[in-house]
Amino acid sequence: MAEPLRIALAGLGTVGAGVIRLLDANRELIANRAGRDIVVVAVSARDRTKDRGVDLSPFAWEDDMTVMAAREDIDVVVELVGGSDGPALTLARNAIREGKALVTANKAMIAHHGLALARDAETSGVALKFEAAVAGGIPVIKGLREGAAANVIERIYGILNGTCNYILSTMEETGRDFGDVLEDAQRLGYAEADPTFDIEGIDAAHKLSILAAIAFGAELDFANVDTTGIATLRAADIAQAEALGYVIRLIGMAETEAGDGGRPALFQRVQPYLVPYGHPLAHVDGPTNAVVTEGNFSGRLLFQGAGAGDGPTASAVVADLIDIARGEIGAPFSVPVADLDKLEPAQSGHRVGRRYIRFAVNDRPGVLAEITAAMRDAGVSIESLLQKGRPEEGGEVLVALVTHEGPESCVTRALHLLEGSPSLTAPPLVMQLLAT
Ligand code: NAP
Ligand code: HSE
Repeated sequence: MAEPLRIALAGLGTVGAGVIRLLDANRELIANRAGRDIVVVAVSARDRTKDRGVDLSPFAWEDDMTVMAAREDIDVVVELVGGSDGPALTLARNAIREGKALVTANKAMIAHHGLALARDAETSGVALKFEAAVAGGIPVIKGLREGAAANVIERIYGILNGTCNYILSTMEETGRDFGDVLEDAQRLGYAEADPTFDIEGIDAAHKLSILAAIAFGAELDFANVDTTGIATLRAADIAQAEALGYVIRLIGMAETEAGDGGRPALFQRVQPYLVPYGHPLAHVDGPTNAVVTEGNFSGRLLFQGAGAGDGPTASAVVADLIDIARGEIGAPFSVPVADLDKLEPAQSGHRVGRRYIRFAVNDRPGVLAEITAAMRDAGVSIESLLQKGRPEEGGEVLVALVTHEGPESCVTRALHLLEGSPSLTAPPLVMQLLAT
């Protein structure tokens, strides 16, 4: 058997400890499949004394991750610290410049700096791999780079944040409050260190931008992902969606289209969508992720599995290590960085679809007329409209409507007409209806 692949592990939290457990539990099988042993040589984290539930005594401890990256006796640095910049980025840059392969689960860092790191990796002739950065244990990056490599990908979309999916499906099942369920997700290890990244849709946007770059052979463009999270959703929205035959899921959606002058443009959006019961994504519950790709020859492919947690994420990290042990370097974004297209961001105004719009309003005469007049004046055709309850005289009520198919620009215009109206007690909530 060839010489072992020697790794240095930075970050010993949920995922880092999971990687140690997995390498230990499946050592023999991994060595057989990789063609050589994969051994941890050195580890680093902030607190040397913390009990992590794994035996660290066989490994060298390094207080300074950057020093660890320069060790002569390692081939790969595994970055499981997190954060788009700061120590994780310094470590990643240094490791690659030292000629070490880099494996990371850090979607924030890849979304912000993936292109530059991929350029550095090409220059150094080393692998840069980040399967665990998107959809936890699901091999969706491999699926795109290898399994679906022969296809033009026309669209890619899915449930990319386990925390939000856990919150939405648990609220749906139990009727519990948003904040209460978020605490559960944090306790279970699904949420990011800063959970606003999860609930504001930023984490899903990081992942979507990475998938879009690989799927479309385009330069990563996280800055132009149109992002809305789930924090303004209310239990009443979930109940209303249910009554209409839908569930609410936070969906990341990317596709290419003809932009100005016919040049290709990239549409990227993360938003809560109403997903019809007939769609496979409607049945994705808990911290599960699912990604749908539409290829011109493969047709629709569905990748589904655990999107977060120590075991599934460690599984994706170790899959990358096995690739490296086998000598598979490959271009991180499928093609060399210089060959990636620079696509302009697509405008969304012309996008045709049905939408759910929810208004929180003061319960008083004329409010419905004001809303429907704005819809009429903006050319939005209403399919159904519902006002639920009347908690107290003159109090707040929710008015939800579903539009017929029409361009997004009309809805934007209608909401613009209602801006600043004293009838509204909160900004309106707009959700797209996902077609089956
Ligand atoms: P975590 O549990 O918070 O662990 C982070 C680790 O990094 C800890 O061991 C911590 O040390 C160490 N660390 C933090 N700042 C450091 C610093 N300045 N210097 C040295 N060490 C430092 O995070 P995690 O959930 O394992 O996530 C790690 C990465 O995987 C993140 O990029 C995350 O987005 C990604 N990811 C996580 C999941 C998941 O399900 N958790 C899934 C997919 C991807 P101490 O332990 O000593 O404090
Ligand atoms: N916080 C992330 C999630 C972890 O909830 O999906 C996995 O990337």
